[in-house]
Amino acid sequence: MVSRQLLDAIRAGYALDWHGLHGIRHWARVYENGIRLAAETGARLPVVQLFAVFHDSRRLSEGRDDGHGPRGALLAEEFRGRYFDLADEDFALLTAACRRHTAAASDDDITVRVCFDADRLDLPRVGKVIDCNLLCTDAARRPEIIAWARGRSESDAEAGILSSWEE
Ligand SMILES: [Fe+2]
Ligand SMILES: [Fe+2]
Repeated sequence: MVSRQLLDAIRAGYALDWHGLHGIRHWARVYENGIRLAAETGARLPVVQLFAVFHDSRRLSEGRDDGHGPRGALLAEEFRGRYFDLADEDFALLTAACRRHTAAASDDDITVRVCFDADRLDLPRVGKVIDCNLLCTDAARRPEIIAWARGRSESDAEAGILSSWEE
């Protein structure tokens, strides 16, 4: 679902440090978090995988950047059919998750909630504590999931997927 061509196209327009706080290393951990949460919740896996690489793809600042979610959703619209494909229903979930990932606390749809939590579980990398009140799935609130995510995030661990993405 996340191809070399898609990543190259995203990178070509990425404004910040590719290996920085909101770059590829974060996306790869969000991707892994999302796969694990999807397996436990039934969330739509392709949506969760694509969310990982689009949600912060159009950040213009490592600090507060209120418009970056909607800009990421627009990029997904631009790249759909060129670098990836999704059915209409899944695509609507992807763009909703990108658009709302910082503005919304939760969502009615489990796939969107898993996207939010996959991202929020990687907050320790910026010195923030994972707050269960900010998570929106029971799967993400499980102590072993939090411990697993916190350890990888705090150490800025390289997600396994990164090596295949960077080949
Ligand atoms: Fe973000
Ligand atoms: Fe993020």
